[in-house]
Amino acid sequence: MSGKTNGTSFELTDRASGRSALLPVRNGTIGPAALDIGELHHDLGVFTYDPGFGGTAATESRITYIDGDAGVLLYRGYPIEQLAERSTFMEVAYLLLLGELPSARQLQQFSASIRYHTMINESLLRFFNGFHHNAHPMAMVSAVVGSMSAFYHDTTDIHNPRHREIFSHRIIAKIPTIAAAAHKHSLGQPFIYPRNDLDYAGNLLHMMFAVPCEAYPVDPVASQALDLLFILHADHEQNASTSTVRLAGSTGANPYAAISAGVSALWGPAHGGANEAVLAMLEQIGTVDNIPKYLAMAKDKSSHFRLMGFGHRVYKNFDPRAKIIRAMCHKVLERLGRTDNPLFELALRLEEIALKDEYFVARKLYPNVDFYSGVIYSAIGIPRSMFTVMFAIARSVGWVAHWQEMISDPAMRIGRPRQLYTGPVRRDYVGVEQRG
Ligand code: ACO
Repeated sequence: MSGKTNGTSFELTDRASGRSALLPVRNGTIGPAALDIGELHHDLGVFTYDPGFGGTAATESRITYIDGDAGVLLYRGYPIEQLAERSTFMEVAYLLLLGELPSARQLQQFSASIRYHTMINESLLRFFNGFHHNAHPMAMVSAVVGSMSAFYHDTTDIHNPRHREIFSHRIIAKIPTIAAAAHKHSLGQPFIYPRNDLDYAGNLLHMMFAVPCEAYPVDPVASQALDLLFILHADHEQNASTSTVRLAGSTGANPYAAISAGVSALWGPAHGGANEAVLAMLEQIGTVDNIPKYLAMAKDKSSHFRLMGFGHRVYKNFDPRAKIIRAMCHKVLERLGRTDNPLFELALRLEEIALKDEYFVARKLYPNVDFYSGVIYSAIGIPRSMFTVMFAIARSVGWVAHWQEMISDPAMRIGRPRQLYTGPVRRDYVGVEQRG
């Protein structure tokens, strides 16, 4: 094969057959261009091979931009640092879904619509009683979100923009209610209904921590910290769970089912499950003296142990969200009067030591969004098993935004990757009596 480009297309020629393919170069607004290989198989009879999709743009998107080398993250063009400093989760949700920051009136209407949908069908609430008390909350959330397909039949015409809008608001509004019910079920406490006079994060804390026999004043430090964490986790372009939602949704599946698939994909420790795994790891390390032993394990390829909360497919520099969360840890612990937090101290030392270690330097492994998030979740009383659920609540906005973008694109096609077959070549069936 040989190739040449004129900037707008790339001509690839198979010298053996003399056949060639003209691959258009597609340019985005920023970031690397992409070769459009749509006709490659037709023209040259070959596929591209990219396990893990490290070099493949699966779609065009206008939602989120990441420059992994520079450590840049933009939601609809706005830097994450500015949104974290000045915005709210509801405003960011509007921005991600609709592309622009809302006016005061638009924000009020949007927030009112989300509040309107916070309750879940009573039958859905009864589902929780079918789970064992020690079921992982992610298992319950994934199942109950998927089960929403069986309840909200009035909004599943994916080609109707109003249906899509109601679905979007429903999922964003109800996922905290489902998450809190999963938590209450684990505790054996009564479910707490939403309070629509509270903001999004405050209402979640209320549903998780209030009990019917006592007043529960929401701690503003906790609800602001949660709101900020939700902003930081709201979207991250074509990550594994978002790509899962897109792939499931591309079949025309019921959108609640597609979101449930996203929840399941998020659960893995290489993705959203890392926040839970980080705290488990810090507890396992225990003291600063043990750090070298665990770093050696992380570097040992035969050990399966990885430094959780470190490394990222796209960031080869500091994850900008990790920087914001680390600074926030200091503030939140101070405001909660818990400056003496041994796990946070240990995390800081671990980061410092790992960032000087040749193995991590050479591979550009930096702390990611989940390295410090668990410290904050713990400080505000959220149990470890609920960390990934918190991530799912925030990411529901990104999943819905990407699903909407995909479904409203007239060029949408079912997602269907190809493969490089390495199994047996054609052979004939042999009866069992003739097999040796
Ligand atoms: N600890 C030790 N070594 C690591 C780590 C780690 N956390 N992460 C990557 N490496 C090593 C790999 O072993 C590999 O080494 P090699 O080149 O000698 O074979 C090299 O760094 C490149 O790693 P890959 O696995 O190829 O990177 P990939 O992009 O496939 O994986 C991932 C990215 C899954 C995030 C990985 O870094 C990881 O497992 N990190 C720990 C889990 C984690 O924190 N996940 C959360 C990600 S952020 C999110 O989803 C919210």
